[in-house]
Amino acid sequence: MRCATAALTPAEIGAIARRIDRPVVLVGLMGVGKSTVGRKLAGMLQTDFVDADEAIEQAASLRVAEIFDRFGEAYFRDGERRVIARLIEEGHGVIATGGGAFVQDETRALILEKGIAVWIDCDIATLVERTGRRDDRPLLRDGDPAEILTRLSRERAPFYAEAPIRVESGRGPQHDTACQVIEGIDRWL
Ligand code: S3P
Repeated sequence: MRCATAALTPAEIGAIARRIDRPVVLVGLMGVGKSTVGRKLAGMLQTDFVDADEAIEQAASLRVAEIFDRFGEAYFRDGERRVIARLIEEGHGVIATGGGAFVQDETRALILEKGIAVWIDCDIATLVERTGRRDDRPLLRDGDPAEILTRLSRERAPFYAEAPIRVESGRGPQHDTACQVIEGIDRWL
């Protein structure tokens, strides 16, 4: 499919893909669509996609919520950093990270040094709608999701803003967001 936003042809996307020499690492709040955009992006760039939360769950043989419940958030963050470091070393094409990963200093430094960080941003109403489709996010269980997401957005935006590329993901097709990521990478490289 062509990129309507930039009218990028598959050949142009291929040429941009060949210039990408590091994993593209998607960061941003819960519900912005990092995994969906990541899968589309990887398909367009003809590379592989990996979801860091899924990799953490595989490594721990536990769901993210169970890791939070049994061992606490600090333990989860430590495992998250190690798994993301491994995924970057393995050289995957596109990596989606959990919303808190880029807020951790060491994890952020690692991603900024060894990957191409892309902040996917989105309005709170859309985040509330999207996160409401699943109830397995530990940070959204104890309170009003709109309030929690508004607070997290305020607290985390300064960290996310350290990513060199920022893309707004609207209510439109995630294909458009993936196209914008490719345009952003093209401008930045
Ligand atoms: C978290 C986001 C989640 C998951 C964990 C913590 C966060 O990932 O890593 O529940 O701190 O924002 P998603 O952003 O994929 O929902």
